[in-house]
Amino acid sequence: MPLTSQDIPGTVDSSLWKIEERNGYRFPPGLKLNLPMYMSRRFFRVGNPILLFEHLAATYGKMAHYRVGPSHIVLVNEPEFIREILVNQAHNFIKERTQKRMKILLGEGLITSDGEAHKRQRRIAAPAFHRQRIQAYGSLMVDRAAAMRNSWQPGAEIDASSEMMRLSLQIVARTLFAQEVTPAIESINHEVNVIMKLYNFLIALPRAEDYLHLPIPGLMRFRRARKRLDHVVHRMIADHRASGVDSGDLLSMLIRSRDEENDRSGMSNEQLRDQVITIFLAGYETVANALAWTWMLLAQNPGPEATLHAELDQVLGGRLPALEDLPQLRYTEMVLAESMRLYPPAWAMGRQATTDVHIGPYLLPAGTYFFFSQYLIQRSPDHFPDPLRFDPERFTPERKARRSRFVYFPFGASSRQCIGEAFAWMESILVLATLAQKWRLRLVPGQQLEVQPKITLRPRYGIRMIPEARH
Ligand code: HEM
Repeated sequence: MPLTSQDIPGTVDSSLWKIEERNGYRFPPGLKLNLPMYMSRRFFRVGNPILLFEHLAATYGKMAHYRVGPSHIVLVNEPEFIREILVNQAHNFIKERTQKRMKILLGEGLITSDGEAHKRQRRIAAPAFHRQRIQAYGSLMVDRAAAMRNSWQPGAEIDASSEMMRLSLQIVARTLFAQEVTPAIESINHEVNVIMKLYNFLIALPRAEDYLHLPIPGLMRFRRARKRLDHVVHRMIADHRASGVDSGDLLSMLIRSRDEENDRSGMSNEQLRDQVITIFLAGYETVANALAWTWMLLAQNPGPEATLHAELDQVLGGRLPALEDLPQLRYTEMVLAESMRLYPPAWAMGRQATTDVHIGPYLLPAGTYFFFSQYLIQRSPDHFPDPLRFDPERFTPERKARRSRFVYFPFGASSRQCIGEAFAWMESILVLATLAQKWRLRLVPGQQLEVQPKITLRPRYGIRMIPEARH
């Protein structure tokens, strides 16, 4: 059947799209052989899928197809097709399997659940993340950042990446549990890190979920770490329940929340455990990475750095920032938005089709995995001219309004959009403003600065910097 431009919502004439017909399906062009056959190629590097994605986008364009074993995988580089997957046809997709595998750590929390179970959790958790509720955390975010800025010494090298991790861990401890970084919080952090290190090993095993009980050393370490983690988190939940007071933290709120639209049921201890670990994992490393990359970009771009400093001096006049300053710290927000364009902490997302799906001129079988990468799309010259240039002016309200929703989506979109987005903006703006008010960070020359795409986009070797007092 001849295709018309109607087949591709909002895009160009479909005669420009290459289609490979097979078994009644219409696939995009792509790798002819199974992916492991390309092991010796430069774009195939275990631990850096960005290279593969870049190769596919450069060679095949907006949609590229490849296979791993019997599975079909499609890399989507067309914003309007991403809209199809996340919004218009969202009902035909679930979270893809790698994220499902996270169930072995996260259980049935917000990130890993689908369908009605996800909707219910979202309803119960939403009030805890409501803009008004989280505003109470503003002053403690500034307090923690102020303590950090007082601990830095002029000329004494720091690793911006581990400093930002340390700070956001303190903030998550206070906001999630109303606690300082106690040994219990340290141990949650430690066990989550042990598990995340083993995670890459685990997902490389086919059906790892089924083998978790086997006496294989990696799996035994995983089981031990998960047991210790569960123990600490369950104790926190029990302490919170026993105290009976709303200490204003997210866990107190989750304990009290009820499914108002349905049976007014709340969360069981098991559900709370899953939610707590999910929020801990989702909310801490992402913000830390966004801030760490921002320090690197500011050091590399003296123009925007000077504009940022001018805004901080003018808006704050030397006093510490507060929640009420957020609407005036416009350029600070634009700096962070531009930083998350170039270094999106969540660098890729995936979904799996539950039925045969039409995406543009293509027809893909049920079970196909779809990946799309914020890192790739947000660096495309099609959407951002001179894409590698750090230019916060791209985020003025006028320029934002001219762009399609799906060329910039560091927090995802639609029903699964990041529930912590308002929290993340508040934290990153207040922290950056507090620290940059007093310090300029200079890069230690000659170091290697490289991305490491794990679940979040980390700096592979950290970011070594020297604080220089501004005033
Ligand atoms: C710069 C910081 C952050 C970035 C870039 C980020 C990014 C994202 C993205 C892209 C998603 C959607 C994933 C998908 O649809 O597959 C997501 C979901 C989520 N985020 Fe964030 N996030 C950040 C901070 C936070 C914070 C601070 C919290 C909590 C305190 C949080 C909690 C969550 C949760 C619970 C979900 C799952 C939501 C759902 O599926 O309903 N995130 N985040």
